[in-house]
Amino acid sequence: MKKYLIPAVALALSLAACNPSEIKPSQDNPEGLISKKCDSVLALMTLEEKIGQLNQYSGDGELTGPVALRPDLLKSIRDGKVGSMLNINGAGYTRKIQKIAVEESRLKIPLIFGYDVIHGYKTIFPVPLGESAAWDPDLAEKAARVSATEAAAAGQHWTFAPMVDIARDARWGRIMEGSGEDPYLGSLLAVARVKGFQGEDLADPTTILACAKHYAGYGAAQAGRDYYTTDISEHSLREVYLPPFKAIAESGVETFMSAFNDLNGIPATGNRYLIHDILKTEWAFKGMVVSDWASISEMIMHGIVADKYEAGDLAFNAGVDMDMEGNVYISEMQNLLKDRKITEAQINESVRRVLRLKFKLGLFDDPYRYSDSIREAATLLKPEYLELARDAARKSFVLLKNEKNILPLSSSGKTIALIGPAADAAGDMIGNWSGRGEAKHVITLKQELESRIGDGKVIYAKGADFLGDDRSGFAAALAAARRADVIIAACGEAGMMSGESMSRADISIPGVQEELLLELAKLGKPLVLVLFNGRPLILTEISKTLPAILVAWIPGTMAGPALCDVLFGEYNPSGKLPVTFPYAVGQCPIFYNYKNSGRPGAQDQKFTSRYLDVPNDPLYPFGFGLSYTGFAYSNLTLGKPVITLEEPLEVSVDVRNTGNVAGTETVQLYIRDLVGSVTRPVKELKGFKKVFLKAGEAQTVSFTIKPDELAFYNREMKWGTEPGKFKVFVGTDSRSTMEAGFELK
Ligand code: NOJ
Repeated sequence: MKKYLIPAVALALSLAACNPSEIKPSQDNPEGLISKKCDSVLALMTLEEKIGQLNQYSGDGELTGPVALRPDLLKSIRDGKVGSMLNINGAGYTRKIQKIAVEESRLKIPLIFGYDVIHGYKTIFPVPLGESAAWDPDLAEKAARVSATEAAAAGQHWTFAPMVDIARDARWGRIMEGSGEDPYLGSLLAVARVKGFQGEDLADPTTILACAKHYAGYGAAQAGRDYYTTDISEHSLREVYLPPFKAIAESGVETFMSAFNDLNGIPATGNRYLIHDILKTEWAFKGMVVSDWASISEMIMHGIVADKYEAGDLAFNAGVDMDMEGNVYISEMQNLLKDRKITEAQINESVRRVLRLKFKLGLFDDPYRYSDSIREAATLLKPEYLELARDAARKSFVLLKNEKNILPLSSSGKTIALIGPAADAAGDMIGNWSGRGEAKHVITLKQELESRIGDGKVIYAKGADFLGDDRSGFAAALAAARRADVIIAACGEAGMMSGESMSRADISIPGVQEELLLELAKLGKPLVLVLFNGRPLILTEISKTLPAILVAWIPGTMAGPALCDVLFGEYNPSGKLPVTFPYAVGQCPIFYNYKNSGRPGAQDQKFTSRYLDVPNDPLYPFGFGLSYTGFAYSNLTLGKPVITLEEPLEVSVDVRNTGNVAGTETVQLYIRDLVGSVTRPVKELKGFKKVFLKAGEAQTVSFTIKPDELAFYNREMKWGTEPGKFKVFVGTDSRSTMEAGFELK
């Protein structure tokens, strides 16, 4: 491969402390070597150039192909005033912009290109919330690996993913971008996704930087309204919201993004406690922190600073290294330095963090190593990527109801009425944050059904739109349904109804779709609802009336094939909800690991913690999901009734496939610490195992719980385990009642 040595930087390296010829790749201390290289470059930089490295601008966000960048942006790049760009897509286009940086700027420092590769770049996987329903870190890693490989081939160095915000409120549209409500599951999936994006070594040009976002607490937006205030106790912050961030900081994620939200009175982007104290000091994070889009300047609107100058002061002193599209560091940093609000050492430190990533990515060796159009053309949408997307989708589907075993359907002889706005809506299958995914690559349910059972056997009628109150399509839909043996209704949210700024106060199936479904149900025919959703929806009425419900989330490019695999029983559904489905929107926020209260009481008892009008329980709990077979649990056994801090707890349970088809069950283990120096949740997920069992087969599933997994922040905010009595619950979902007790001495 042709080696590039950027002239000015080569000069820098040779003049400064470290001569490139002396820099030998060191297996022992690659970070030390990179650090020397960074110092060498830093030594030649002017203050303006340093500040430039801390500045990130967006490209045109063009959708159909490269267009000319604003001339002032190009000038900024030439002037060395840009360290990174986002939303510049494609090998050719990134090459063109990179060329300006490395040929026309004084120091010729390459740019880092960043992009939101959230659930795929070209091959689109299920939305992260859906993919999380597979409870399969290995799958999440593989999907992220594919996404990184495609994005890297198309010029991207950095994805703003994974989003690891714990979300307990289905009204919040961004719930679809994360792993749901549980810190344990969320941490495992976060680590897996980072590994998938970043691979083993960033020197491998198929890897990209990952970004832990949105740090922190963003998912706890009051009333589920995006960008809104969060007020989170130190205990909840550390035990619920921070664990996935901590897990990926420890596993080597290279960047963090500071969140938009006000956290306990200080916006996350200006929150020194969060960034400087916890992330950079306590967790010793060596990577780089980027702000969210204009979240530095937005602190003016938050009312914590008067102007951009103060915003820059607050954010930079909090520890935000790079300013995304805020134009604050560029305009204010020199004055802040002059006024001694910040120091040059601080600036150097942040610049070092940026340069370090450029070295790690190998951009100083070859700034175009990601911008190779031939590699791009050969990489995108490879058949094996599509196959993985199909597998991820079918593993993400959650069967909520299957009365009289309506599913799986028989593919022979039957006529199917396919109704609903999602049946043939290609764009809605890839939904929000779908990278460079294109509707034209999607195989819809209608297309796949027709190709599997023949168009003559599929009678399609849209029936209704996703939104609005137009009922004019009902008659045709009902007529189609009357002529068919089976009805498949593809309804739910449009693809763009979840994601950023997509909060909803009413989280029922939108428009008149629910009405249509109830009309269809009146026909008394086998009726399957395939639900498309980026968040939990209220299915309370529907679930009483409809015999079968399959949650498909926003399934991605391979929606149709994956759905048909499951509908016709070629794949037995095994997804489990990573998030609670409420009974009523008034229950939000709702989650399985709640605290008991002093009056947990019963539903029918006055003066207890309850609602007058709806149950406390959700409609479908966290961890819930059916299969075409059944699983029976027995023989829950603990290794010992009493353990000490030195010994782990062994737990085993027998699981039997009681049906007549093979299936995969996710065996879940929860614990409850009965008495703590601070109150403990009624249940906490501490382990799960996926087991594949043939019809009639049984297996003993074992878990080992280490005492430190029982730790929490005590009354003094010290992390540790407290002796006492615990309960263990094992079963098929978070309502599992099979329990045993043990004591920690
Ligand atoms: C704002 C979003 O909050 C963030 O998640 C995203 O990465 C940036 N915009 C960049 O697109």
